[in-house]
Amino acid sequence: MPDQPSSNETRAYTPPLAYKALTPLYDLAISILTQESKWRHTFAREIAPLPTDSIIDIGSGTGSLALMIHTIAPLANYLGIDPDSDAVDRARKKAAHAGSNARFEVGFFSAGGLSEGAPPNKIVSSLVLHQVPLNEKKRIIKDIFEILPTGGKVHIADYGYQKPGLMRLLFRITVQALDGVEDTTSNAEGIIPKLLEQTGFIHVCEVSRIPTLTGTISIYSGEKP
Ligand SMILES: C[S@@+](CC[C@H](N)C(=O)[O-])C[C@H]1O[C@@H](n2cnc3c(N)ncnc32)[C@H](O)[C@@H]1O
Repeated sequence: MPDQPSSNETRAYTPPLAYKALTPLYDLAISILTQESKWRHTFAREIAPLPTDSIIDIGSGTGSLALMIHTIAPLANYLGIDPDSDAVDRARKKAAHAGSNARFEVGFFSAGGLSEGAPPNKIVSSLVLHQVPLNEKKRIIKDIFEILPTGGKVHIADYGYQKPGLMRLLFRITVQALDGVEDTTSNAEGIIPKLLEQTGFIHVCEVSRIPTLTGTISIYSGEKP
């Protein structure tokens, strides 16, 4: 499923907390600053994992969503893909500790890297799209569309439209200070649901909009017609 792991050496990406040295602090920072319990449970409930599901998590990071999916549906087939090998190591350790059968691979999610076998029926991603360039946002969403079978679902939790005022200010002094303005601005202007619709997804909706100390996190879903 992921592109060649070796391509990580040449292909740029933003690490989980913007700088590799900060990865050990990722889980604590996300827990406190994004008030994680407020949005990750909502996201997991929206994904509604079933034992029969085959789920791909794009930019799975340190595996926090994997653990939540495992708690709800331990038999679901979960594959997390992330270009950051340190994050993947942490995710594998956390999953092993929890007795989860979640699998993680180092690399970039891509439709071209699809391995033989049944396609996933759900593709999920949290806090990834805001920190990738616009072209990469478009490519990822296009590849999700290509891989999903008819009726397959996409679920995204990420910084979405930031209403001018407190949320936009918090977003600017936290997320944009760390991840930069260039990649994050289109998210703050609400581009994600537009890209989902332009790509061909139907029933695109913003299921939830959750204010946090770092700005508003939105939960989006869509379906492949
Ligand atoms: C802020 S972290 C989110 C991690 C995890 N999904 C979560 O909810 O905690 C963003 C992750 O996206 C990964 N990433 C960066 N660029 C990416 C890309 N182009 N495709 C997929 N993942 C990417 C990073 O390595 C990092 O682990």
